[in-house]
Amino acid sequence: MNSPTKPFAVINPDAPATSLEAKQPHIDNGTQCYSKEGYFSRDYMEREWQHIWTNSWLIAGVTSDLEKVGDFFVFDIRDESIIVTRTEEGVKAFYNVCAHRGAKLVWDERGNRKVFVCPFHSWSFHNNGDLRRITDEDTFHPDVVAHRPGLTPVACAEHAGIVFIHMGENPPPLAESIGLPEGYLEAYRLDQMKVVRHVRSEWGSNWKVGVEAFYESYHLHAVHPETRGVMGDLNVQYDLYPNGASRMIVPLGQPSPRINDQESVNEGLQLMLQEAGVDPAAFEGTAADVRRAIQQGKRERSKRLGLEYERFEDGQLSDSWATGIFPNVQIGCHPEAVFLMRFLPHETDPERFYYDTMTLLLPAEDPDYRPPGWMGLPEGTDVSGRQRPETEHYSIEEDAGLGLVLSQDSALLPVVQKGMRSRGFKGQLWGEQEQRLRHFHVELERRLGM
Ligand code: FES
Ligand SMILES: [Fe+2]
Repeated sequence: MNSPTKPFAVINPDAPATSLEAKQPHIDNGTQCYSKEGYFSRDYMEREWQHIWTNSWLIAGVTSDLEKVGDFFVFDIRDESIIVTRTEEGVKAFYNVCAHRGAKLVWDERGNRKVFVCPFHSWSFHNNGDLRRITDEDTFHPDVVAHRPGLTPVACAEHAGIVFIHMGENPPPLAESIGLPEGYLEAYRLDQMKVVRHVRSEWGSNWKVGVEAFYESYHLHAVHPETRGVMGDLNVQYDLYPNGASRMIVPLGQPSPRINDQESVNEGLQLMLQEAGVDPAAFEGTAADVRRAIQQGKRERSKRLGLEYERFEDGQLSDSWATGIFPNVQIGCHPEAVFLMRFLPHETDPERFYYDTMTLLLPAEDPDYRPPGWMGLPEGTDVSGRQRPETEHYSIEEDAGLGLVLSQDSALLPVVQKGMRSRGFKGQLWGEQEQRLRHFHVELERRLGM
């Protein structure tokens, strides 16, 4: 096969092959154009339900939402609702359904309870899933309840501060299934991070259109022109890992090679310097020196405040390591904060999905120690991590207040969804800047048995 003529960027050519930032070996996923039916068809949606959603490790939530025994949250996905809770014996998950007549047991999104009481006839269950009490048990024939019906467990496991569930038979080992090298996610200490914002908004496209838009930086210049001053969109390193996982390293703190001015330290770069503790007024370099200065600024701060940034490569201090885990997650990884996004299928409509984002922050004493400005936390957000905010829900008509970049995406995706329906559109033609999309689809089709 012929290769693209433009060689792809490598962030650090000197990185040892075993380091986390090393360019991963090439995976040849071919040049196939996949059918567009998967974006509209209800049959395809059902196949995804059978083979993907009910048969994959899915991110249900984060460990920091389950600190104390009795803490729980509910993870809803399409037809299923699952309670995930910390018990005396560790984190467990159960279908959120009463063993008596099937009522939904827990209606709150999260909380702390040792006992779940059903709202229908008040049967109660211990949070380890065991039956606690049957109301008026002496009115039941003993044979009906002799098996002491408890909650039905769902496989549940933790990795690097993230809680996963799996509804299928014989789930594979979680760490292997995630596909990322050991230590990759662990370095960010998500288990010590706190959710400071959680938004779930409904978007007007298939969930895969969402995943795809976030898996490439090819559209930045056109859809998000304001990023041109600060994101090296053509210098992105794309890496593919086993089982559909992938990553793109987007260098931040450098102008896009698409613009002429590669010298001026523009306003965006000044802001980034400032966030890294470097005084932009005293900065003597050009735009080409900013990324390095951000890295040095953060190293310096780390030494001063004992933040232990030694565990990170220089590039991790400045750049965005946008990391995808099959099927529906992208994690924007930064030493200070993590942006965890899930693309959740709509209950009934293949042309809608829920964009669910949690911003997690490592609490610290340093007042400058904040998530990067471009993560778009609204003014006045409590970043102390002391109070877990409620999830904000937004319907398709509402503005979710996710900031400029995300509102540009949410406005565009329905347009793409509609366009793909046209009989004039034959299927997506991906370039190598879109290699993560192809990698995702290869895994999807493999898992669907297509
Ligand atoms: S359905 Fe739960 S107690 Fe009856
Ligand atoms: Fe975008």
